[in-house]
Amino acid sequence: MSFTVAIDGPAAAGKGTIARAVAERFGFHHLDTGLLYRAVGVKGGDPAAAAAGLTPADLERGDLRSAEAGQLASRVAAIPEVRDALTTFQRRFAAQEPGAVLDGRDIGTVICPDAAVKIYVIADDQTRAARRAAELGADPAEMLAQLRERDTRDGARAAAPLRPAEDAVILDTTAMTIAQAVAAAVALVSERRAAAG
Ligand code: DC
Repeated sequence: MSFTVAIDGPAAAGKGTIARAVAERFGFHHLDTGLLYRAVGVKGGDPAAAAAGLTPADLERGDLRSAEAGQLASRVAAIPEVRDALTTFQRRFAAQEPGAVLDGRDIGTVICPDAAVKIYVIADDQTRAARRAAELGADPAEMLAQLRERDTRDGARAAAPLRPAEDAVILDTTAMTIAQAVAAAVALVSERRAAAG
């Protein structure tokens, strides 16, 4: 049976880095689900149609990691028809053998409510803004304003709002190095895998 790891949390908390490392460590597939919403946002036109017609080439665009794409993604992600159009793809991805790690906002709550491991990654917003500013070569104050705007929109929307699943383990990476955060997630996955037999 496949083994699903759901990693959710606000923007720039470290989800992607942790998800990639966990997938590599266990030989699992990895999907950064934020890229799907970013691709819909930058595609333009009707967002629901863009989501329904998303192609692998749309996910290869070089501009998906920009702050602008993040803002566009957060806007289209509030549209229920967009989320619905992306659900089947994400669930199929999650069911792959021997396992899959998906990172996003609603993986543990909506996409994979039966995931074997659910981790909700947080960090204080100054820390998140500083990390993202360093990554994108942007101004930390501007990044902080953008992250707060995105978190507020992602958390306040009616469709699959950002929140931890009841059975998620909260991982606060504020005072952790990347290696420490990855080690904590790997330990949790190892423990659950051993328990699952
Ligand atoms: O993880 P990210 O920063 O690439 O996500 C960009 C936006 O996409 C985020 O602000 C909200 C939305 N998103 C979502 O609603 N659900 C997901 N599973 C992933 C991302």
